[in-house]
Amino acid sequence: MTYLGPQTILEKKKEYIMPCLGHFYQEPMQLVRGDMQYLYDSTGKEYLDCFAGVSVINCGHCNPAITDRICEQVKTLQHVCNIYLTDPFVRLAERLAEVTPGDLKKTFFCSTGTEANEGAALLATVATNNSEFISLRNGLHGRTKLTMSMTGISMWRTDPNPVGGINFAPNAYCYRCPLGKRFPECDYACANAIEDIIKTNTSGRVAAMIAEPIQGNAGIVTPPPGYFKRVKEILDRYGILLIIDEVQTGFCRTGKMFAIENYGISPDIMTMAKALGNGTPISAFIATEKVANTYTKPGASTLGGNPVSSTAALATLDYLIDNKLADNALARGAQLKAGLADLQKKYPIIGDIRGMGLMVGAELVHADNSPASTETDIILEEMKNRGFIVGKNGVARNVLAFQPPLVITEQNINDLLDALDVVLAQLPR
Ligand SMILES: Cc1ncc(COP(=O)(O)O)c(C=O)c1O
Repeated sequence: MTYLGPQTILEKKKEYIMPCLGHFYQEPMQLVRGDMQYLYDSTGKEYLDCFAGVSVINCGHCNPAITDRICEQVKTLQHVCNIYLTDPFVRLAERLAEVTPGDLKKTFFCSTGTEANEGAALLATVATNNSEFISLRNGLHGRTKLTMSMTGISMWRTDPNPVGGINFAPNAYCYRCPLGKRFPECDYACANAIEDIIKTNTSGRVAAMIAEPIQGNAGIVTPPPGYFKRVKEILDRYGILLIIDEVQTGFCRTGKMFAIENYGISPDIMTMAKALGNGTPISAFIATEKVANTYTKPGASTLGGNPVSSTAALATLDYLIDNKLADNALARGAQLKAGLADLQKKYPIIGDIRGMGLMVGAELVHADNSPASTETDIILEEMKNRGFIVGKNGVARNVLAFQPPLVITEQNINDLLDALDVVLAQLPR
């Protein structure tokens, strides 16, 4: 097999791909093959994947238990659009009603996380006949006009004319509290602020609040226990729906099937994508029967619920459950966090360690607590050179993101921590 190689790909990318699409690394590799938690580049070098294509490959790359079923389906019936009757999409919808929390029951299938959030917002508008929204600062919900307008990170807000009627609430970022308070003495001041926002910034006719249970792009910002209970109480008082965006957090990543289950509440609408198809493009929004039944005008997505992507999602759910990957996410996540805490004692650049299960962030800071963004890039590059693909996020791009395939082993985590120890020791101080 001959490969283009990184240099040629970079040249073609520059020539033919819109410049908005960035890439990681000063010296990027060309990835050509995946096998469970490992990736291989065009030179044959092996990498431990600790980012899983941004929280997508929860069951591992090219997992035969999933790809065999996909191949079988591709060879049998690839696409007809779900205005025709086929098995996989209704089976999947039934499974989703079983595995999602609370009374979530009826699903609409589409292809990307953005589309799921856009659809969820439309559904909330239809169900309430209202069109204002509340969103969280530092949240990320997509690339379309509305979902980008709901995104609270300037870097991802390209549109100079965002949609109006979206009100941002302070996020539950306890390490750098936007209100300058401390938990638990704050008594959820950031959640309480939502009530003020409803009363002062909106017309009072708010369709929904949208929130990630753990803010991925913001830097694995993890609200304290009880936060979403308080949020839901406030929203219920005003008849405002809660849309939970599980695009990055869903499918056992945080030790539960969905991250919101860690907070003991259930939303009115939930969106999912990424890991739903373990790399096959499929997304969905699911709602309670009461909310879902208001969506009666014709609506369909050509590729949504396609037999191949639905089969991939069914196989993914089977694999996650049969192999108890939620338990592995908890065990390996605890091991990773404990290891990072040990490194933090040696290297004060690790300012904060947070997350749940195998959605773990390490925020890197200077002595004055300012974001160590340059150092984050150096660490990513050095880890890559040693065969470890680590992610990066955060508003200041200074958070190491560990979101590996959930099949990662105890030995893998030890190797990752050992490599990180060496790289941190070599950082200029
Ligand atoms: C929480 C969240 N919502 C929505 C999206 C958008 O998903 P997609 O890129 O599939 O459109 C992302 C993408 O990273 C995300 O992290």
